[in-house]
Amino acid sequence: MCGITGYIGTRDAWPILIEGLKRLEYRGYDSAGVALVKKGAISVYKAKGKVADLENSAADKDLSGTAGIAHTRWATHGEPNTVNAHPHLSPSGRLAIVHNGIIENYSTIKSRLQEEGYVFRSTTDTEVLVYLIEYLMQKQGKNLLEAVQSALREVIGAYAIALADRDDPDMLIAARKSSPLVIGIGDGEFYVASDVSPIAGYTDRVVYPEDEEIAVLRRGVPLKIVNLMNEECSHEVRPVPENIGLTGKEGFPHFMLKEIYEQPDCIVDCMRGRVDTSLGTVRLSAVTENAERLSTAKRFIIVACGTSWHAGLIGKQYLETFCRVPVEVAYASEFRYSNPVIDDSDVVIAISQSGETADTLAAIELAKSRGAFIYGICNVVGSSIARATDTGSYIHVGPEVGVASTKAFTGQVAVLLLLALNLAEVKGTMKPEAYHSTVKALLEIPDKMREVLKSDKGIAELSRTFTYAHNFIYLGRGFSYPVALEGALKLKEISYIHAEGYPAAEMKHGPIALIDTEMPVVFIATKNTMYEKILSNVQEIKARKGRVLAVVTSGDKVISAVADNVLDVPETLECLDPLLVSIPLQLLAYHIAVCKGKDVDRPRNLAKSVTVE
Ligand code: G6P
Repeated sequence: MCGITGYIGTRDAWPILIEGLKRLEYRGYDSAGVALVKKGAISVYKAKGKVADLENSAADKDLSGTAGIAHTRWATHGEPNTVNAHPHLSPSGRLAIVHNGIIENYSTIKSRLQEEGYVFRSTTDTEVLVYLIEYLMQKQGKNLLEAVQSALREVIGAYAIALADRDDPDMLIAARKSSPLVIGIGDGEFYVASDVSPIAGYTDRVVYPEDEEIAVLRRGVPLKIVNLMNEECSHEVRPVPENIGLTGKEGFPHFMLKEIYEQPDCIVDCMRGRVDTSLGTVRLSAVTENAERLSTAKRFIIVACGTSWHAGLIGKQYLETFCRVPVEVAYASEFRYSNPVIDDSDVVIAISQSGETADTLAAIELAKSRGAFIYGICNVVGSSIARATDTGSYIHVGPEVGVASTKAFTGQVAVLLLLALNLAEVKGTMKPEAYHSTVKALLEIPDKMREVLKSDKGIAELSRTFTYAHNFIYLGRGFSYPVALEGALKLKEISYIHAEGYPAAEMKHGPIALIDTEMPVVFIATKNTMYEKILSNVQEIKARKGRVLAVVTSGDKVISAVADNVLDVPETLECLDPLLVSIPLQLLAYHIAVCKGKDVDRPRNLAKSVTVE
């Protein structure tokens, strides 16, 4: 995946493109590049690394021009270096292209062009596409639009592209298939971007082209959208969703820490308008509007990736416990190729912070094609997944910038809980006392989260003693098992320490062989139905001289006496523990990574939004 942006109009393109790339950096930051189009010339600026590196490297150059395209990369084909950075030029230098996605049949096309004598500069799939387009123009006498249509009919894979033409500086072309693309319509000007964030603030009118549609953006001329067969396509102009734009760190050293601290307010936002505090009831509009469909579902299937998948594992326990309906949780990437047994009696819940994850989107399309009803749980308003689902609930936690997901995770867990509670009430599967006490306990969570955040300083100090570690094990049971997985994921993502999450009782079936004095073992050992069992698991680790860090309920004496270190969280219902326990684990990962001098907000090899499969 990668981020693309473009501008054509009357203003200087460079600052708009650079700002746009910064807003898209969550999509990748291996290298960045810009092509500015002026009559008779295309100037290309590229740098390895982040957008700031590109800005610095171009500081003394002529950056004038009122049209251009730009790219921030997350390498798929070819290592991240300047040669492989986008934009890529056609053989004659007439065309420049930026691309997000993967051209799967690029090697076949490349060989064919090489036989014709073409020499490639980079090892990317993207360069093959721009070469093919120019080849079709030269050899078959097509104009740019015709050549793009013809090339895109031939390529297999996913793309969002923007193209500039040295010989036609008044036009940009943009197209998409399976990768996100938004066109902003200004006054005699157009914006192109992978999502609305680079466009927000410039215009509030956007168009989302459909798959295999091409936008022709001619300066001062209305937007024209055609398909690959050159038929004109209608398009709906929509407003830019609210609350889009750049957020700052607001005094925090990193976005991740800021986002960890935002969680109490996020849960409040998540509940706003949905939880009636006086009646102690929950109403999600998606459930109200689809009560029949949801309550008669024979099965729920949750599809997601990464952190969202972990939230899904908790959601399964909510739906099964409260609604007495079977739930499966699948990695979207596996589900999409699994030929699942699924029909119109199933409801698929797709969870995605970004709403753009390619595998999750593909899983939705597959489930839809087999008749399932699709419920989306997304953060980004108006995102591809939000638009592809039949209904859904936003988590409303605001933009998450840190690559390691924190507030989105707890927001997803909270929405899954609201969904299960609301549905349980509709189905009559939950005793009223249990329902009301859960709602009441949920309302207390934001304050309890604030309490947990007070341990930040202590966790920062403790973290210093863990920087030696090369491995970590995280253990939990029941509702806390997915939290252990998520805790381990946080640590490996940002500190590059190998970490495994495991169901605590499974340790003895193999992983316990890893335990020695060097091995930190993080236990989630809050006071709940599993407490005695977890205590035994802690003893098993201590007996083998492992170093135990336990997250316990405030006031705990028993596990605290056995563990080497403890972090405590206020008491709550067992099903709500994940909302509290996640926070010390996020802080632990954060501080260990900071102690090790890592780039916490933008860890190596990762991206915030994964729009390739
Ligand atoms: C990437 C991110 C993860 C995220 C996963 C799924 O790998 O780095 O933090 O959990 O994608 O993303 P989604 O936006 O679908 O929740």
